[in-house]
Amino acid sequence: MIRKCLFPAAGYGTRFLPATKAMPKEMLPIVNKPLIQYAVEEARDAGLQQMAIVTGRGKRALEDHFDISFELEHQIRGTDKERFLAGTRELIDTCSFSYTRQVEMKGLGHAILSGRSLIGDEPFAVVLADDLCLNLEGDGVLAQMLKLYAKYRCSIVAIQEVPREQTQKYGVIAGELIHEGLYRVSNMVEKPRPEDAPSNLAIIGRYILTPDIFDLIADTEPGKGGEIQITDALMKQARNGCVLAYKFKGRRFDCGGAEGYVAATNFCFEHLHQHTL
Ligand code: UTP
Repeated sequence: MIRKCLFPAAGYGTRFLPATKAMPKEMLPIVNKPLIQYAVEEARDAGLQQMAIVTGRGKRALEDHFDISFELEHQIRGTDKERFLAGTRELIDTCSFSYTRQVEMKGLGHAILSGRSLIGDEPFAVVLADDLCLNLEGDGVLAQMLKLYAKYRCSIVAIQEVPREQTQKYGVIAGELIHEGLYRVSNMVEKPRPEDAPSNLAIIGRYILTPDIFDLIADTEPGKGGEIQITDALMKQARNGCVLAYKFKGRRFDCGGAEGYVAATNFCFEHLHQHTL
């Protein structure tokens, strides 16, 4: 049903300078694995096999990561270090990777539109790799959302409750509760001041989108900060039909900034990585 996952990874990552000056922020490691690999694994675990990555200038390392490195593999063959590459190798063997470039950084909506040629006319998932989502108790966030899509067949955004004073960092929704943790979106505002925010339910970096979103983005004028916002296009979709917002099970770390990055590192070191180091 849904086969493809789009990873917009063209942003400048200015909050993480100077680390991101010559390296994409999606290659920042959480312990010993880059953010983009956690993201691709979440999509693979949800049953998706076609990975479509939107890159920009200076992002070559992303393509190299999901490719075979003959010299390196030859060098470590037969040693106990082979196990460090086993997970990456499995992704390369079981998934396909395609790339396109966002030529100008005109926002997340524009980045998604840049991926249109890789997606075509079918529903797809979107993962922002700098939002690391982990659920130790069961399905990953994307797998949870795909189950909902199978039932409702419309665009779905993942949401999280945030402290009121942080609404300015997010797209914020208002909606009618139709099931536990599931809202039908009636309003969506990009980066509202706390006093203007319709709720404290913030959109985070996981989406299921139906393909009509592309024409809606193409018709969207640049909004806040001169960027083409995905929330504006989603709001049109919500008005025309239905968009759902889902309060996911699990934890989310904003790894685009130092605080979330350090928290994610500590969490993964404690819960996931001890046995692989
Ligand atoms: P962010 O808002 O985190 O922007 O983008 P950024 O530019 O990467 O980081 P800062 O704020 O300067 O530190 C959210 C996601 O959307 C992608 C980013 O790569 C990130 O995964 N994005 C954003 C694009 O692909 N293109 C854009 O034009 C903007």
